[in-house]
Amino acid sequence: MQVSFVTGNSGKFAEAEKILKHFGVNILHRDLSIDEIRSDSIEEVASASARFAHAELKEPLFVEDSGLFIPSLNGFPGAYSAWVFRKLGNEGILELAAGKEAEFRACIAYTDVSVAETFTGLVKGKVPEEIRGTGGFGYDPIFIPEKTPEVRHSGEKTFAEAPEMKEALSHRKRALEKFGKYLEKR
Ligand code: IMP
Repeated sequence: MQVSFVTGNSGKFAEAEKILKHFGVNILHRDLSIDEIRSDSIEEVASASARFAHAELKEPLFVEDSGLFIPSLNGFPGAYSAWVFRKLGNEGILELAAGKEAEFRACIAYTDVSVAETFTGLVKGKVPEEIRGTGGFGYDPIFIPEKTPEVRHSGEKTFAEAPEMKEALSHRKRALEKFGKYLEKR
């Protein structure tokens, strides 16, 4: 089975390619510039982007939207994570949320002529007291995933300190696996 992944981010593409291969899915990279709607919901943002991309490309495709959600700040920065990261960076989020619970979420929206489906992956954790680690990107240095017994360093290190831990339990991986299972059955 072949589907297109519409993204400008080659890191996201490489991760999706690796995971979806396990489900017998081959993906094509489409770097198409599409308008993003403004909404508090990553599911709505991803679904609208998938619709816009499908109107243009007319082939089975998916897009992904993700963000960091801090429940005590009503989900901020959430769907605005990319913009907030550019404005405040990790230092700004630490000032607002050091020590607080947080979660990463990723939503994949898939569209072809007859269906529109979303798949959300989530990883719960917390914001440390300081920026830690140099791996990964974005908010990785300020996110410690909650303890998962079988995953080394979970509950202690940030995603940026332990990239192999991120690979094992990321929100994006979880969303991609749900999507892969769905495609396998189609
Ligand atoms: P978008 O899905 O490309 O719009 O990105 C959302 C923003 O959320 C990114 O720019 C990052 O700041 C943040 N983000 C999403 N996923 C991750 C992750 O795995 N690690 C760190 N930051 C992330």
